[in-house]
Amino acid sequence: MCGIIAYLGEKPAYPILMKGLYRLEYRGYDSAGIAILNKELTVIKTRGKVSELEHFINGKNLHGTIGIAHTRWATHGEPNDVNAHPHYSQSKNLAIIHNGIIENYGTLRKELIHRGYEFRSNTDTETLIHLIEDIQIKEGVELVEAVRIALNQVIGAYAIVIISKNDPDMLIAARKSSPLVVGIGEGEFFLASDATPLIEHTKDVVYLEDEELAIIRRGHELKIKTIKNKEKTPYIQKMELNLSALEKGGYEHFMLKEIFEQPRSIKDSMRGRLNVKKGTVKLGGITEYEQKLVNARRVIMVACGTSWHAALVGEYIFEDLARIPVEVEYASEFRYRHPILNEDDVVIAISQSGETADTMAAIELARDKGATIIGICNVVGSSIARATDAGSYTHAGPEIGVASTKAFTAQITILLLMALTIAEKKGTISRLRYQEILTELEQIPEKVTETLKVNDQVKFIANLYKDSRNALYLGRGYNFPVALEGALKLKEISYIHAEGYPAAEMKHGPIALIDEEMPVIFIATNKGTYEKVLINIEEVKTRKAKIIAIVTEHDERVAELADHVIEIPETEEMLVPLLATIPLQLLSYHIATMRGCNVDQPRNLAKSVTVE
Ligand code: F6R
Repeated sequence: MCGIIAYLGEKPAYPILMKGLYRLEYRGYDSAGIAILNKELTVIKTRGKVSELEHFINGKNLHGTIGIAHTRWATHGEPNDVNAHPHYSQSKNLAIIHNGIIENYGTLRKELIHRGYEFRSNTDTETLIHLIEDIQIKEGVELVEAVRIALNQVIGAYAIVIISKNDPDMLIAARKSSPLVVGIGEGEFFLASDATPLIEHTKDVVYLEDEELAIIRRGHELKIKTIKNKEKTPYIQKMELNLSALEKGGYEHFMLKEIFEQPRSIKDSMRGRLNVKKGTVKLGGITEYEQKLVNARRVIMVACGTSWHAALVGEYIFEDLARIPVEVEYASEFRYRHPILNEDDVVIAISQSGETADTMAAIELARDKGATIIGICNVVGSSIARATDAGSYTHAGPEIGVASTKAFTAQITILLLMALTIAEKKGTISRLRYQEILTELEQIPEKVTETLKVNDQVKFIANLYKDSRNALYLGRGYNFPVALEGALKLKEISYIHAEGYPAAEMKHGPIALIDEEMPVIFIATNKGTYEKVLINIEEVKTRKAKIIAIVTEHDERVAELADHVIEIPETEEMLVPLLATIPLQLLSYHIATMRGCNVDQPRNLAKSVTVE
């Protein structure tokens, strides 16, 4: 959601914070701000992107070796200069940056107004910093203690960092349900929402746990305590990230880089897990829970957005291979229903960021009901990865583009490996078939490379349809979730209205939308319901829509009907989503760039949705 970066050390803080903000900008980009302490506590903030903040600061004197900075995705209070973070306390002695939502801020705000506090912004965050200052004054306690007491009064989610004019050698941070990581360097400390801005500075990191406070003092070791005042020993981990993963590497956008990374990211998801020669699949992270999965009465997959689409593909794979009934739930719906869950159920939570608030809440609910919870996450050490009983990382590498691409194919790869493991243990797959799928799966990275060669053709097609106002994506079976994902990619980065539908369902309503203006994208590969999809294509053609079809190489029958065919290599039906998604990602990318949209940072979106 929002991005937090803070520094305390011997170097000038400003360049470190500014670079950190650029790294974190994918998390939120409607306003940004910075506070640097150098006798005076100076706060500068503005609506807009980090570059606008940098431009705004240009020439202003921001010297100092301690500071905090923030890039925002607005929840409470519209994105403007005043609502941007950091927020001062009443006396301007303190400043805070915050990611999350203080749910009871309304009540707290009323009380504080009653006690004479004046609010400058409409944010929940300002309430918290006034509350902390109020406690400090009223109770006559140290700042750390005031923060601790205040956090005990707060309901909601927070990752915060506080800086104090009266203590130029200290930063205080805390988290609950929003991520925060401490980087430890030589005589310096960093705080950030995720590890990406720390990489140039240190590999030693401490991931704060929920309700923990970090007290960072110049010349002292990192101190951690809980908001219940229990001291904790910091657990220092070595970060495994490299710089090239965070840079565009010659591509114009992160999204394009990440689309083209998929041969490698899929391979990395399988690395050390798939062994075709030995005919084995080993997902180390779930070994102890394999039997739970084998005996599961039911699997429930919870996720949001693109990860939810991966779960839908997973449903088909699990039911085909492992013969376990699967339900796929939007985490946001699941958490507020009264789902029937028991100890024989296994919940699989899927999340690229590992921080999505709804998915996290679904996990908590499942835990209360006694279900086993397996995670599939991309971000190592993320909240969801830590909250689940066991899990497998996707190892797709950092996904910076806000629209998810390589995480989707990596999630499907893990779901395949998981289903194969269970199927083999359960005996729901023959040895021959198992080996066939393994062999084909190993070929997939190469076939993705082959698929990526359609890029120029897709660009040509994108140019023809870039001015469309609507688009319809249709597929059946394994290709239905692909259609949903294709439509989501188009709408989120190009702002063209797009819908994904099961191809046969179209005639129950959406067919009314079809006219000669409407591009209809069919995923019409040669297995499963291919013959039926041909009929659906005929139905659309009769209504004069423009048809773009993703087909298996050498297909001739769809070509007779479609205006454009984009070929992908032949593969197993259940592996088709790994290939068919690629041209759809490219189509959205090219249409969006041709329309002048910011594909890496689409409007109103943020990379990890840590609020409801
Ligand atoms: C779409 C997209 C979002 C995410 C969704 C879940 O391109 O990125 O729909 O898929 O917000 O995020 P994670 O997977 O981080 O839980």
